[in-house]
Amino acid sequence: MTRHLLEIDDLNSQEIEIVLNCAENPANSSLQGKGAALLFEKPSNRTRNSMEMAVVQLGGHPVTIRPDEVGLGKRESTGDIARTLSCYHAVIGARVFDHGTIKELAEYATVPVINMLSDASHPLQALADLLTIRQEFGKLTGLELAYIGDSNNVARSLAIASGLVGINFRIASPNGYEFADTDTERILQTGINLVQTDDPDVAIEGADVVYTDVWTSMGQESERDDRLQDFSDFSVTSELLKKASKKSIFLHCLPAHPGEEATREVLDGQSSRIWKQAENRMHTARGLLMFLLNEGIE
Ligand code: CP
Ligand code: NVA
Repeated sequence: MTRHLLEIDDLNSQEIEIVLNCAENPANSSLQGKGAALLFEKPSNRTRNSMEMAVVQLGGHPVTIRPDEVGLGKRESTGDIARTLSCYHAVIGARVFDHGTIKELAEYATVPVINMLSDASHPLQALADLLTIRQEFGKLTGLELAYIGDSNNVARSLAIASGLVGINFRIASPNGYEFADTDTERILQTGINLVQTDDPDVAIEGADVVYTDVWTSMGQESERDDRLQDFSDFSVTSELLKKASKKSIFLHCLPAHPGEEATREVLDGQSSRIWKQAENRMHTARGLLMFLLNEGIE
């Protein structure tokens, strides 16, 4: 059966551990002489570069494709594009607006499909986040993670990932920006210890990991003015960070908007691990490719 990664719970907790271990092992030649099609409906810096380099490190050839180049769903149906790309490539990655598009690609592809971010989720980011946290604390289970901000795609995948590995997850979002009930249900299925609040002070108290993301995600630009107002009390400042554990680390998936979801002082501060986290995008992408292309790897 072809394995896909559409959301982080397409891997179980043992498989996540294998991917993280692969990320820290030397590259093999899983992709020697093979291609990887990387489709982007939205802009990207980290995801494109980390995936391309991960493919190169495994001996493969990445082909990055903008939607207008293939006419995703316009010149050709999404299903036919998936079937065509499967003829040439060992793996397909896609960054899409509608999560339904990535599901459709997976339905028709005969090679693994990796979600490189959709409006609903960002599982590749969650893998890099877990590796960064594990490298810092030497473990994952039992840690306290505070997410301050929008209950968006990054938060959803991170919450599910946390539940799978036993990280306790507290999220502070303004009223109206909480997880949808269906998301909460899926997160709770992991057996997670989940706290949802509208008070950043409550979420951050004693946390080991403090995480935030932009208030306005790609595709929500028309809501930016309202969001700036609604999230104005949810900025991660040095003052707020003092309430976390003394040994806490600060993470952000990036790109950041300094002065909005986090101050420049926090982004560049002593507890910040954002550049290690960005680097880990490449290592975990490589680890995931090794896992998906070598089913059963230990
Ligand atoms: N974190 C992340 O996915 O960054 P890009 O949008 O630049 O790929
Ligand atoms: N939530 C952000 C993440 C960017 C990596 C977005 O979807 O734009």
